[in-house]
Amino acid sequence: MPGDFTVLIMAAGHGTRMRSDLPKVLHPVCGKAMVEWVIDAARQAGAGDVICITRPGDGVAEGLPDSVTVAEQREGEGTGAAVLAAREAAPAEGAVLVLSGDHPLLSAELIGQVVDTHGREGAAATLLATEELDPAGYGRIMRAPDGSVERIVETKYTEGLGTEELATREVNLGTYAFEASDLWSALDEVSEERDEVYLTGVFPILRERGGRVVSHLTTDVSSAMGVNTRADLMEVDRLAVRRLLDDHAREGVTVLGPDSTRIEAGVTVGADTTIWPGVTLRGETSIGKGCEIGPQSTITDSTLSDGVKAVHSFLTEATVEPGASLGPFAYLRPGAHIGEGAKIGTFVEVKNSNIGAGTKVPHLSYLGDADVGANSNIGAGNITANYDGRRKHRTTIGDGVKTGVDTSFVAPVSVGDGAYTGAGSVIAEDVPDGALGIARPEQENVEGYAERKEQPPG
Ligand code: UD1
Ligand code: CA
Repeated sequence: MPGDFTVLIMAAGHGTRMRSDLPKVLHPVCGKAMVEWVIDAARQAGAGDVICITRPGDGVAEGLPDSVTVAEQREGEGTGAAVLAAREAAPAEGAVLVLSGDHPLLSAELIGQVVDTHGREGAAATLLATEELDPAGYGRIMRAPDGSVERIVETKYTEGLGTEELATREVNLGTYAFEASDLWSALDEVSEERDEVYLTGVFPILRERGGRVVSHLTTDVSSAMGVNTRADLMEVDRLAVRRLLDDHAREGVTVLGPDSTRIEAGVTVGADTTIWPGVTLRGETSIGKGCEIGPQSTITDSTLSDGVKAVHSFLTEATVEPGASLGPFAYLRPGAHIGEGAKIGTFVEVKNSNIGAGTKVPHLSYLGDADVGANSNIGAGNITANYDGRRKHRTTIGDGVKTGVDTSFVAPVSVGDGAYTGAGSVIAEDVPDGALGIARPEQENVEGYAERKEQPPG
């Protein structure tokens, strides 16, 4: 029945165990909010309508894609109250899948398997289960003598259980398939426990009515885990990072240090790119083909074209054209645009500047609010003095320029094509094409100085 099912995502819990001001389902896992992972998996599995249950004013609804319907849980506590809040928005009949917003690793494959099992077994309800996790923190599945699911016992209620029941390793993973009409009528009858309405309370009711509740058992631990605590979040994040690295590897990316590398959700990397250890790629970053990234680079919201090298570099909102090389120890800040084949070397910082094709800035420089042409060479230790204390001004440097070491450019100022600057110059006036701009005090040598200094006094 792919495409025939409506998905409800429960995302209105308080997440108290996270000890956070941020709602639990908005905590990012490998750069993407937990609830978005679940929405994406549902879409990939072929969901029809996706309805997300949120709390009014918690900020979850605001970040959701437009394609998702929002149902507000205004009253009541617990997963049953959450699902009830979606009743108006959901269909009265047909297949309904209920997912938990705190199971970000849930895969489209597993959703598909639950849907298939549900259809094949003709069950009143089907839930996803595993025996591979520590049962503490989940609801344990208690089975009737006929092997069907009888009820779910939450960890906090296990005091009353016998040793055999306590030995149960099979737990509920918070993914359920229902026939909508059965779900709604059963939920009406679930009574409150400790001021909460539990969705799992529908199972005994469905059984009493002669329905069968079955579980779909999975061994896929990397898709099973839920998040209640920050410790869970750490573990789930680790698994998500690995899953994404595996996806990139399948697409032709070499990852040499998977345990120290993080490529967050949404980042694209071209084939034949090598990622060395200690690399983090985040946000809206795209890396071209045949690049060498790292070791030790952090790249956020940046676009790198094919064949770029970035060693020990830190980039935010930068654009780098093909074949350019960065680092070691380059710092590209927002608006840095590095031309084809250009080189930004060691301890060089570039902000809001265009560096032309083939231009080299090899050592110890700061270029801010600058436009540098093609094939120029910026000497070591060049600085743009772009800020006069009130406003920022631009520095323009032409094509084929060679600046001496330790040149300062007091913006606004421009240096023409093919011009030179003398080492140690403070360039505060424009330098015409082909000229040498030199602005430093002339050297004076004090003859015999050392000898006089070494004379004993008197
Ligand atoms: C729930 C299940 C448990 C299962 C586990 C899987 C119940 C009673 N228990 O327990 O059997 O093993 O999930 O992870 O269902 N939520 C709301 N509104 C609420 C309360 C919760 O939308 O009022 C949402 C939460 O945001 C979360 C999900 O429902 O995404 C599960 O809630 P949580 O409190 O984490 O349930 P568990 O105690 O983990
Ligand atoms: Ca949970």
